[in-house]
Amino acid sequence: MCGIFAYCNFLKEKSREEILEILCNGLAREEYRGYDSAGLGVDGDKPREVLYFKEVGKVAGLRKKIASSSVDGTKSFVSQVSIAHTRWATHGPPSETNCHPVRSDHGSDFLVVHNGIVTNSGELRLVLQKRGYKFETETDTEAVAILTKYIWDTQPDKRITFTDLIKMVLKELEGSFAFVFKSIHFPNEVVTARRGSPLLIGVKTDKKLKADFVDVEAAGPEDLETTNSLLVPPTQAKVMRTQSRAFMSEDGLPQPIEFFIASDAAAIVEHTKRVLYLEDDDIAHVAEGQLHIHRLRGRGDEQQTAAQLASTRSIEILELEIAAIMKGKFDTFMQKEIYEQPESVVNTMRGRVNFDTNTITLGGLRSYLPIIRRGRRLVFIACGTSYHSCLATRAIFEELTEIPVSVELASDFLDRKTPIFRDDVCIFLSQSGETADTILALRYSMDRGALCVGVVNTVGSTLSRDTHCGVHINAGPEVGVASTKAYTSQYIALVMIALQLADDRISFTERRNQIIDGLHSLPALIKRTLEQDSALQTLASTILANSKSLLLMGRGYQHATCLEGALKIKEISYMHSEGILAGELKHGPLALIDENMPVIIVMTRDSLYPKVQSAFAQITARKAQPIVICNEDDDNVPAGAKAIRVPKTVDCLQGIINVIPLQLLSYYLAVQNGCDVDFPRNLAKSVTVE
Ligand code: F6R
Repeated sequence: MCGIFAYCNFLKEKSREEILEILCNGLAREEYRGYDSAGLGVDGDKPREVLYFKEVGKVAGLRKKIASSSVDGTKSFVSQVSIAHTRWATHGPPSETNCHPVRSDHGSDFLVVHNGIVTNSGELRLVLQKRGYKFETETDTEAVAILTKYIWDTQPDKRITFTDLIKMVLKELEGSFAFVFKSIHFPNEVVTARRGSPLLIGVKTDKKLKADFVDVEAAGPEDLETTNSLLVPPTQAKVMRTQSRAFMSEDGLPQPIEFFIASDAAAIVEHTKRVLYLEDDDIAHVAEGQLHIHRLRGRGDEQQTAAQLASTRSIEILELEIAAIMKGKFDTFMQKEIYEQPESVVNTMRGRVNFDTNTITLGGLRSYLPIIRRGRRLVFIACGTSYHSCLATRAIFEELTEIPVSVELASDFLDRKTPIFRDDVCIFLSQSGETADTILALRYSMDRGALCVGVVNTVGSTLSRDTHCGVHINAGPEVGVASTKAYTSQYIALVMIALQLADDRISFTERRNQIIDGLHSLPALIKRTLEQDSALQTLASTILANSKSLLLMGRGYQHATCLEGALKIKEISYMHSEGILAGELKHGPLALIDENMPVIIVMTRDSLYPKVQSAFAQITARKAQPIVICNEDDDNVPAGAKAIRVPKTVDCLQGIINVIPLQLLSYYLAVQNGCDVDFPRNLAKSVTVE
């Protein structure tokens, strides 16, 4: 996890105060990625001096620290680079010392900000310690900073370029990373690289650019050498001199230009909409107003994707609007995102569902439909809430496609080394598109020749780019760590895929039409469900106010709803909560039931309604007083039972409606418990580590 951000201005005067503001704003936009500490490094008053600001906790604390410092904010810089980081701790607890930027050997020779995990940092640390280097943090990142210093120290003539130096460093590393490096030896230059963690660069200039792409300088044979330079005298390590053709202004003259390097487009969009997404093993170098992109791997190297092998990186225009990443009138992003659902589900369907002709057109899948239909198995792979959206739609896929479906948690799928074959269709669900487990499962499935389909929210993310084909769910940016609108949009995207796969089957026409009609009325029904807001607030502050635990029960389509509701409750209110398949009640969970155990039972009408009624009877017989989520017109719910009434829709879409009261309940339980709704402890929005 973690968010990295860097700012470079060239021939564009900025005061230190402005630079600090740009950095803090960038970090604040990425805070959802990790928020246990934040730090930054900017140029000092003297040459070769770097000023650091680091604080445990959120970016607001860092801002306060900067404001109360005696630093001269008026000093201005015509060209400079500065780097910043918001952390989600993996190696070493949150502390000022472990905060990034991490420096090399107690000095500012090399500073690094890092997202990801360097898995061989322990070995590197030992080797470097043996060579006399002193570590001051517990982070894996420090091994990288000191390794950079070590390779630099052993260069006799110091004529190595910053890029070549970092190439040598990267070749030693295992694991996943996005880095930005700054150095007093290379003033006003910055090098950034990625492998497995997201990274993009925003470009802002008033002048027209010479091209809408940047050439990629291919790696030479030297770059492919696997020689470990730590184990051979580094002076013998070959250094490649690249001559990358960077793009410049149309007239070829130096021009004022700014670059913003970030883990997420949300940190860039307020400055510029022109961005380049880096690929794995890209190394980008910014200096003198130019951007050069190099490769660490040669073209012939196996296992590279087409995007990585491409000889250019195009400059894309972000579609993100700044308003979409602001809280507006809401207290938290989560609340805003819950309330956005009537609109976000429309965005998911826009241009894809034609309600006049009852047809679905998913452009991203069009040419792959015959292969998917011929697949011998559909394997859904995801984590957390995204996994729940797969469970929620499994039955409708089975019904409409008649293809066997399995639903896998990405981590477990990998742990089991699940057999995957060329005629399997693997479907990867992810809001962020950057979840490490899911990406590893994608690589695993690709290697085995399966068709890989992405269902992703974040445009330009690794999953959206590296799958063969897919569907963007178009829910808009989701900032709250607890996923809400992405769940309902994923759910709809999956239903649309199932519908499209079945559109060649006449026998399903009636069922398809029924579901498409259901999709049409969903936005209005979601709006109506949101009217339960104050009832749920009351529930959180009365019946459930002092509860230590909460069970959620349902079956069929509603099992996923219960799992998702329980996940929301535990992750943001820290209250123990468990989703239970009502059919399993008598096989164990019934032992938990007594008059003190709070239970929510999802009992909306579908073919399993009588069975859920029987579960209701079993728990009330054990003195439980369940809260019932039922349809508006249900007269069967006993008068004494507390009921949350929701509108009725088609069985396979009812989970979209039913999850909304649970989202609101989790929200109010968290508020009631004084929890930080958007930033639950120990979690982060984008889980880019295994
Ligand atoms: C829970 C939640 C997480 C994510 C999970 C996968 O509210 O947000 O469980 O669903 O970390 O993330 P993505 O969907 O980005 O792959």
